[in-house]
Amino acid sequence: MEALDSKLSLLADEAASCSRCRLAATRSQVVFSDGNARSSLFLIGEAPGREEDLQGRPFVGRSGKLLDKLLWEEMNITRDNYYIANIIKCRPPDNRNPLPDEVSACRHFLVGQISLIAPKVIIALGNFAAKTILCSEEGITKLRGNVFDMNVGNVNLKIVPTFHPSYVLRAGALAMAQMRSDLVRAKKLLLGGHEDIAT
Ligand code: URA
Repeated sequence: MEALDSKLSLLADEAASCSRCRLAATRSQVVFSDGNARSSLFLIGEAPGREEDLQGRPFVGRSGKLLDKLLWEEMNITRDNYYIANIIKCRPPDNRNPLPDEVSACRHFLVGQISLIAPKVIIALGNFAAKTILCSEEGITKLRGNVFDMNVGNVNLKIVPTFHPSYVLRAGALAMAQMRSDLVRAKKLLLGGHEDIAT
């Protein structure tokens, strides 16, 4: 196994037996990541929902289906072309928002993933993910439409905030069009003259 895979699998093993916060008591399983760890694109959501908790993979429910469709239509990519994970790796009961101490307890895993994968671009999905990764008090409506330069886990990268697909499912056409234009923005940042997003 190559160094990247073995380091990520050590981190995933550590997460699988993590009991740093109360969510360890209610999860079915830890949802660590999905996709291609050699991609320069990393998508970050909020937390696993019911389906994800059962299947052990992020974004496999209804909002994940919409996300897959939009990523294909606007960026021509599938899960083989990007890496995807959540801010926290365990499902909060009743899908409530993660609590600040849960986010802090899980930060080590997210920063570890970012620093090993070293993406060029992070797409932050939704209010919670965008505010957390950008350490911002602004809501997603203000944040989206912009690109932020950040250093996370010793990696210089660009953050493209956009709506969460579950919000787009509820909000309809305008939000969908805005999310599509955010994905096109991310694609342009990634391509920079190349044809493929995955390295
Ligand atoms: N919503 C998220 O933010 N993450 C998932 O994995 C599923 C739904």
